[in-house]
Amino acid sequence: MKSGEKSGSVYARLTGTGGYLPGAPVSNLDLIARGIDTDDEWIIERTGIRFRHLAAPGENSGAMAKIAAERALAMAGLTAAELDLLIVATSTPDYIFPSTACLLQGALGNHGATAFDVQAVCSGFVYGLVVADKFIRSGTHKKALVVGSDVFSTILDWQDRGTCVLFGDGAGAVVLEASDTPGIMASVLHADGAQAGILSVPGQVRSGKVWGDPFLRMEGQAVFKNAVRVLASVAEECCQAAGMESREIDWLIPHQANIRIIDATSRKMGLAREKVIVTVERHGNTSAASVPLALDEAVRDGRIKKGQRVLLEGVGGGFTWGAALFEF
Ligand code: UT7
Repeated sequence: MKSGEKSGSVYARLTGTGGYLPGAPVSNLDLIARGIDTDDEWIIERTGIRFRHLAAPGENSGAMAKIAAERALAMAGLTAAELDLLIVATSTPDYIFPSTACLLQGALGNHGATAFDVQAVCSGFVYGLVVADKFIRSGTHKKALVVGSDVFSTILDWQDRGTCVLFGDGAGAVVLEASDTPGIMASVLHADGAQAGILSVPGQVRSGKVWGDPFLRMEGQAVFKNAVRVLASVAEECCQAAGMESREIDWLIPHQANIRIIDATSRKMGLAREKVIVTVERHGNTSAASVPLALDEAVRDGRIKKGQRVLLEGVGGGFTWGAALFEF
C-alpha cells in the first residue's frame, strides 16, 4: 500500500478526459484586424497569449460541454446512461435555469443521475472535481462526469482591451469512477468574498431587463498578485494534506490565465518548468475549462502517464482558489 492510501477506503479515480475548443485559432493580429486597439507584442509579453478560440454565435456552454463529455466518456469506455453524477462548472450557463448540468444530462440521454452546476468562476472545475470526489468517497455515487465549460466571449466588453484579449472559449471534462486505490489523494478549496470586486460581472437580469453591468470587469494587478500568492500556497497545502513534498509531483496543471502567473507559481514552488503543463499561449484563459483542457491535452499526447501524480490548481473570481492532487 502506498503513502496516504487506507485499506477498505473508496477513492475517485480519473478514467477519462475530453476537451473541445470551438472554431479556428484566433491570433492577436486577428483581434487587431477586427478593430481592437492592442498590439501583439504587448499581449505576448504581458500574458504569453498568442491565440484563443471563440465560439460561433449561439454556440453555448452546454453544446461545448456535450462534445467534451462525449470524448471523456469514450476514453473511459462508459455510456452516459451509466453516470450517476453530472457536475458542470460554468459562469456562463445557457439559461438562468435549469442548470447547464441538467441540459447536458438531457442532451447526453442520461435519466435520473444527480445533476447540478457549480459556480466558482475560473476555480469552478477544481471545485466541481472536489465535490464529485466527496460524493464518490462517501459511497453514494460511483460514476461521475465533471465538466468545465465557459463562453466568456459573450461577457467580454470588446471595447476594453485590458480584458478582452485575455479570454477564450472552450470545454474540458473528466470521468471519475469509484476505485479501491487512489485516485484523488488530497484536495483543498478556499474563497474570500471580501475580494468579490476585483473580478466580476456585476449585473443581473431582473424584470425583463439587464441591471448593473453585464460585462467582465477586472482589477488586473490585484488579481495577478492574489493569484501568484494563493497558487503557490494552495499547492503546498494540498501536497501536505497528501503527505508529500511538492517536488514529488510529476505534473502541475495550474489555471491558465497568464504565463507570468504560471512561471511565478512554479518558481515559488521550486518546481522545474518542464513539469508544468501550459496551454495559455494557444487557448487564452478559458475560465472553468482551462484546467481540464490542459489535462486532456497532456493525457492524449502521452505526457501524463499511468501512475504519475498530477496537481491541479484553480484560481478566479469570488475570490476562489483550490487544488486537487491525484494519481493517474
Ligand atoms: O482567471 C483569472 C483572471 N485574470 C487574470 O489572471 C489576470 C491577472 N492580471 C494580469 O494578467 C495582468 O494584470 C494584465 C495582463 C491584465 C495586465 O498586465 P499589467 O502588466 O498589469 O498591465 P497594466 O494593467 O498595468 O497596464 C499597463 C499598460 C497601460 O498603459 P499605460 O497606462 O501604462 O500607458 C494599459 O493601457 O498597458 C496598457 N494595456 C494594453 N496595451 C495594449 C492594457 N491592455 C492592453 C492591451 N494592449 N490589450
